[in-house]
Amino acid sequence: MRLADCHNTEDFRRLAKRRLPGPVFHYIDGAADDEVTKARNTQAFDDCDLVPSVLAGVEHVDMRTTLMGKEIALPLFFSPTALQRLFHWQGERAVGAAAEKFGTWFGISSLATVSIEEVGATVKAPKLFQLYVHKDEGLNRSMIERCQAAGFDAVALTVDTIVGGNRERCLRTGFTSPPRLTPGSALSFAAHPRWTMDYLLREPFSLPNLETHVSQGTKVATSIGDYFSTMLDQSMDWKAAERIRDQWGGQFCLKGIMSAADARRAADIGASAIMVSNHGGRQLDGSRAPFDQLAEIVDAVGDRIEVICDGGIRRGSHVLKALSVGARACSGGRLYLYALAAAGQAGVERAMGKLRDEIERDMKLMGARALADLDPSNLRWRR
Ligand code: LAC
Repeated sequence: MRLADCHNTEDFRRLAKRRLPGPVFHYIDGAADDEVTKARNTQAFDDCDLVPSVLAGVEHVDMRTTLMGKEIALPLFFSPTALQRLFHWQGERAVGAAAEKFGTWFGISSLATVSIEEVGATVKAPKLFQLYVHKDEGLNRSMIERCQAAGFDAVALTVDTIVGGNRERCLRTGFTSPPRLTPGSALSFAAHPRWTMDYLLREPFSLPNLETHVSQGTKVATSIGDYFSTMLDQSMDWKAAERIRDQWGGQFCLKGIMSAADARRAADIGASAIMVSNHGGRQLDGSRAPFDQLAEIVDAVGDRIEVICDGGIRRGSHVLKALSVGARACSGGRLYLYALAAAGQAGVERAMGKLRDEIERDMKLMGARALADLDPSNLRWRR
């Protein structure tokens, strides 16, 4: 199987599975408990159908929108995800370059493997920093100040990782950051010599936005679940969110809002956007899917705050459904991470190119010339 054989997310996933040692693949692919929420995130889109209009003169379609003050060329962007240089040596650099090419937002995690400064200096796409609030207040301040100095365009405060999710695949494989050599993992590293050589011979693994303050995740190998549970501030509340909003002072987003009541509070504290997200099903299994919850949230705050549907997106038609309900844009992690693991920047560009083409083709088939033409009247619910 080659990159040219990859036509959809599932194809990239299959190629990624071949290229990555088991512990790394299952870290990306896995989710919490029984992974019911992860599966539902995508299945939810099948509960409604698109009703196309025809003879609409769709020679030119306009996929542009604005999100957090920036115009983007399509209503889909790269959610921040952690540890990207472990998936492919090009890591965040590949994703940033792809975001620039497609004219959309690019997010990096606090647990990114490239520094805030480098991303600020090299990536021209709109840049979002995903903040994890640590117990170490100095670290939180340092990350915000570094984002300000580096010219980041938005901060997304993660609100759904107050403790680590129960990721049983990671418990079984022993996945840690940095990866640890165990009898099981050694075999899978040996069976993937290309990945292993890249990991050993290229730029050493690091978490440059954290390791100024903490050694867990870099010098001290830790599972991501343990990292969340031990390093993050479980006392974080709405007051803390307001403090961070004030410290940052720019476009501010809450990532991981699922209830209409919390969405209202996010609007009340002046957030510019919310990402309706359950962290890819990696935290609370049994949590509702973003798309299932979208209408309720759009009804509650759609006129006050930008609503982003994050999670489960695998097709352009999923984006069209979310926009028809009232999302401003969609975002995803695995939808580009499998492709990153499969083939670096070329993979990410192919994955995003396929999704962009699907959005454009489906808009034409829907008779929608601009995103504003998509509204609830385009949808029928099966139940
Ligand atoms: C995750 C974090 C790091 O593993 O986003 O879900």
